[in-house]
Amino acid sequence: MLKVGVLVSGGGTNLQAILDAIDCGKITNAEVSLVISNNPKAYALERAKNHNIEAVCISPKQFENREEFHRALLAKLKESGVELIVLAGFLVAIPPMIVEAYPNKIINIHPSLICGVGYYGLHVHEKALERGVRVTGATVHFVDTGTDTGPIILQKAVKIKSDDTPEVLQRRVMEKAEWKILPK
Ligand code: GRF
Repeated sequence: MLKVGVLVSGGGTNLQAILDAIDCGKITNAEVSLVISNNPKAYALERAKNHNIEAVCISPKQFENREEFHRALLAKLKESGVELIVLAGFLVAIPPMIVEAYPNKIINIHPSLICGVGYYGLHVHEKALERGVRVTGATVHFVDTGTDTGPIILQKAVKIKSDDTPEVLQRRVMEKAEWKILPK
């Protein structure tokens, strides 16, 4: 069994998609053994606890500086023995210290087909609508030391409708793309 650690900051619907894929037998060779959030209020932590998965909050606020925070994060990952790290809506840039400790063992889900600095959350969908693109989608990629620059693993396109709002589009991208390609 591959031991997977999932890093989250918010609602955790992508974490849930992974847990559901395990529960229904679509994923048979991996288990989520640890969930870490930087945000103590993340509902994703509840989702983990409901599955009897170790759920830990490691917040930058608990540390004197960013480096101490990064060290604590790495120490917890190492201690738990996870072999694959999944960033499922984790709003913390992964420092080189962690990328180098897990080369090609960290993957991220991004809610569009192209990634770039400032493209996160609702902004991604606002930009797609502003530009008038006809399709958007989601991307699963390896994490390297850049911002969303690692090699792409899987992508799925989603059509944009003329009356879409950023919120409506965000939801459709999650349902039709993110929750499918991340477990896959
Ligand atoms: C998703 O849109 C994901 O692509 C992005 O952050 C959001 C997280 O949502 N990186 P959730 O916490 O999985 O519901």
